[in-house]
Amino acid sequence: MENFSKIGALTLLPTGAALAMDDEEALEANSVVVGPYLQNISPSEATIMWVTHKNSFSWVEYGDGTNLNKKFFAYQNGLVQANNRVNRITLPKLKPGNTHRYRIVSTEIVAINGSQYKFGETITSPIYTFDTPADTSEEFKMVVFNDYHERYQTVPQLLYRFGYTGNDKDFDMVVFNGDVFDDIASEEQLVEQFLKPCVDIFAKEIPFLFVQGNHEVRGAFSRNLPDYLAFPNNQYYHAFTRGSVRMVVLDCGEDKTDDNWEYGGLAAFDQYRETQRDWLRKEIESPEFKAAAFRVVLIHISPWHSGDWHGTLHCREMFGALLNQGNFDLQLSGHTHKYAYHKPDNDHNFPIIIGGGPIEGNRTLMKFHATKNNLKVKVYKDDGEVLGDYSYNKK
Ligand SMILES: [Fe+2]
Repeated sequence: MENFSKIGALTLLPTGAALAMDDEEALEANSVVVGPYLQNISPSEATIMWVTHKNSFSWVEYGDGTNLNKKFFAYQNGLVQANNRVNRITLPKLKPGNTHRYRIVSTEIVAINGSQYKFGETITSPIYTFDTPADTSEEFKMVVFNDYHERYQTVPQLLYRFGYTGNDKDFDMVVFNGDVFDDIASEEQLVEQFLKPCVDIFAKEIPFLFVQGNHEVRGAFSRNLPDYLAFPNNQYYHAFTRGSVRMVVLDCGEDKTDDNWEYGGLAAFDQYRETQRDWLRKEIESPEFKAAAFRVVLIHISPWHSGDWHGTLHCREMFGALLNQGNFDLQLSGHTHKYAYHKPDNDHNFPIIIGGGPIEGNRTLMKFHATKNNLKVKVYKDDGEVLGDYSYNKK
């Protein structure tokens, strides 16, 4: 961050002074702060993200055979994305049902004077692989964390304790169902407590999905968080199909009313949930939603069985009727920090599983496995006890 600021200052200096500082800058090598990490994999696309220490021009080299014979960079309005640190590159037209090899490359941009670019060194990562699902794939496996609240050692502890070896891809995706943080103050915190643990353990080769909780919206850096993640439609709320499952992700927003002193008059969650309600109404009528064998909703605060604060009640008011109308098979949530299973009842016509956290003895890991006609979820407590073992057949 410190070096990034220095580069920013270069543009304010006359050319001679800038060049003098360039030499000093050149002594400090560029590096990857964190990454690469995968987001958003579909049969034909994958998003690769990473953060560099210095402003750079970055791209991905990749291929579906043994050679990295393709190269792709991001661009917007005709300009190649460059002179930036946070990279989000979506590889298009990938071959479905294939293993792909890739590496990331960043060339430092030392200075820009008028239309002249001064490039620095190029850094290249090792080669990694990821899999795209087949178009016809009906199987999908994911693991779900919730509410680890900055205790990021939970990620390796529970993954390795419950079957992950680092070699076999035991799951297609890792979900963080809200409250990864208590609040977010800086990029450094985001990297240390979230991105780096993911990258170190699985995220170079397996994507993760972040579902926003009510704590991520707090802190000076909360408004920067979306820059470091990728979602279908670029929204925290979205839907996608993997295997036999249509996954619908909702953002519950804050747990208290928008005028609460904690938000400094800068919260508009009621409007946001209304927008999501209108979107959900369209989603449950979409051909993709209707065609799926299973419909699953991920939402950090369950609209039911999660107390009676404003967030819970407004989620219920906005989403409740539509979720029932959509004939969902399952809802996965967190927030209460206490594992619970709620059968379908008069309020919600689908089962709800709420994961526990964040302290030892309360933490859970959900292992989710969908096939053509069946959906299984096993919930493990961190000490190994199986809290729930559920199986649902296609309705
Ligand atoms: Fe929480």
